[in-house]
Amino acid sequence: MIHIDLSNTRQFLQANYISARSSRLKVAHEHLQKGNGAGSDFTGWVHLPTDYDREEFARIKKAATKIQSDSQALVVIGIGGSYLGARGVIECLCSPNYNLKKKNTPNIYFIGNGLSSEQLSETIELLDGVDFSVNVISKSGTTTEPAVAFRFFRRMLEEKYGKNEAAKRIYATTDREKGALKSLANENGYETFVVPDDVGGRYSVLTAVGLLPIAVAGIDIDELMNGAAAMQKTCTVDDMASNPAWRYAAARYELYHSGKRIEILAAYEPSFRFMAEWWKQLYGESEGKENKGLFPASVEFTADLHSMGQYIQQGERHIFESVVRFGASKDENPVPYDEVNGDGLNFLAGKSMDFIATQAMDGTLLAHVEGGVPNIIMRVGQKNAFTLGEMIYFFEYACGLSGYLLDVNPFDQPGVEAYKTNMFALLGKPGYEEMRAELLKKLNT
Ligand code: PA5
Repeated sequence: MIHIDLSNTRQFLQANYISARSSRLKVAHEHLQKGNGAGSDFTGWVHLPTDYDREEFARIKKAATKIQSDSQALVVIGIGGSYLGARGVIECLCSPNYNLKKKNTPNIYFIGNGLSSEQLSETIELLDGVDFSVNVISKSGTTTEPAVAFRFFRRMLEEKYGKNEAAKRIYATTDREKGALKSLANENGYETFVVPDDVGGRYSVLTAVGLLPIAVAGIDIDELMNGAAAMQKTCTVDDMASNPAWRYAAARYELYHSGKRIEILAAYEPSFRFMAEWWKQLYGESEGKENKGLFPASVEFTADLHSMGQYIQQGERHIFESVVRFGASKDENPVPYDEVNGDGLNFLAGKSMDFIATQAMDGTLLAHVEGGVPNIIMRVGQKNAFTLGEMIYFFEYACGLSGYLLDVNPFDQPGVEAYKTNMFALLGKPGYEEMRAELLKKLNT
């Protein structure tokens, strides 16, 4: 269960805002539950944790077991919604150092999430002499970054194993019927998994998009879905007191209306970094349109208290924080006693790292609120597959509500196309000749 503590936002907001906003929240909630709001063609994720393709789910597990048995590495090719969720979950539950750890599951390399030549060469180098498989993920099947990366790794596989064996090591997650990737998969006989039509990229982590890489890393995807299903049930309740997504959506909307322009998602676990990246895409792409929307930012505490802490404490007062607090860690790590006490730290001897971190959290909370930064506290329980499933669904549901409160379509992303068309024109893609000439003129003046 996720608990949203709003006590450190109250002094910044009008006392009656929750009752004042609840009728709009009810409408937003109905749009999601009944699928009758803007972008409703893309609300398949709302019922996904309880209504998913069981046959495909079993195939995902089978494919994961095969990859674990025949590969020392899995190359996951995808960008944006076809990448961040899987990386977020794997790093959060298995560590950002997953690849360096002793384990009986394959290393996982994420690529195709940018256009860095250096990153590409490095990944190719890391695969030298390594048995590997590829999971190429693209809903449209036409996104440039993953498509370019796939050329390299497909060729590598074919050179290493021959065309037939390579095809058995390529898993394509894409549209059920259309797109270049689907055609390639059909032609070459790759095993395919589906990104459902009614689930957009940034809401797709609980489909094969996220589940296959997550399962390969050895994470219990049944538990992940169970957690999401539990939160799905919680989020059906149309009541502010017991629906955490309502509480979060209402508070952040109100803070936005009180002049806050930036929401900083903070966590005290470095392993949460890519979950925060996933969250940024989810909220940034869902809300940032029609000249509206909170700017989603993230920090890792306590590390960033030594870099961004100054700004948060005393910079422009257009920010609020949403702080993720996990339950107890699995290791206590008490601070050792030292006879000499040269560092003067014996007052902490025997105290667990969690204890010290909690004092840092409370001290930071008091300081930031005092400094004019409202804090939403999210207590999310211990870090495991179940609680992460809960958290994913919670953030998705609150995001859908938030988009509707803001009066935008939370499920489209028209702005993402602008750079793509310019890039295609500049790259000389057939059909973009006129635009290319115009852009070159602009660049040269
Ligand atoms: O959320 C989105 O829709 C985007 O971030 C996409 O996931 C991203 O652009 C990748 O698209 P595709 O899966 O079609 O390659």
